[in-house]
Amino acid sequence: MSLEPEGANPSKSSNIVWHQASVTRKDIAKKRGHKSAILWFTGLSGSGKSTLANAVNAALFDQGLSTYVLDGDNIRHGLCSDLGFSDSDREENIRRIGEVAKLFLDSGVIVLTAFVSPFRSDRNKARKLVNDNDFLEIYCAADLHTCEDRDTKGLYAKARKGEIKDFTGISSPYEEPDCPELKIDTGTLSLEICVQEVIKKLHENSIF
Ligand code: ADX
Repeated sequence: MSLEPEGANPSKSSNIVWHQASVTRKDIAKKRGHKSAILWFTGLSGSGKSTLANAVNAALFDQGLSTYVLDGDNIRHGLCSDLGFSDSDREENIRRIGEVAKLFLDSGVIVLTAFVSPFRSDRNKARKLVNDNDFLEIYCAADLHTCEDRDTKGLYAKARKGEIKDFTGISSPYEEPDCPELKIDTGTLSLEICVQEVIKKLHENSIF
């Protein structure tokens, strides 16, 4: 009988045996008074994913909840510093983040991931690693025009000049989520309202 958790990726290692944790997610949730979850923010560069994820994180932290933000730009300085922006590197980036997010979920934390994650299939693979109600896909739906107008990091201008290749929205596709748990118009709504929408969703899903 295999004790491996559902959704586990096939491993190249042989002779490895899954070790069951003695402290379970359920134990942690009971002690801390809230469930864990993965809040998967997706959207174009400049759509407000990191800003919203960090603002939600601050609001939850204020209420004493255990939370952590995994941010694309930051993770690419360390865990994923060997990856670029080709389709296959993005796929590997999102695969790793899906696995890391799953570890945070197991540790009882509400983990907020802020990655462009432009490909539907990659996001769906991350979703499939965990139970359906543990994964909330939050589409930051600011359109390209708005993101390009903002151009907070000056990257769209560079991409238009051809100085950055494979730039999402310009020279690389962004596939909108079909059925996100939440779609937020981060292009027009205030940050405060966006935060409230996420918190409301967490209440609806009985996370806390
Ligand atoms: S993802 O596509 O693999 O999910 P990720 O979220 O990690 O991307 O990184 C995106 C961030 O890297 C953007 O917010 C932007 O600051 C920066 N970046 C640099 N080059 C690119 C590019 N070619 N396409 C998109 N974002 C880029």
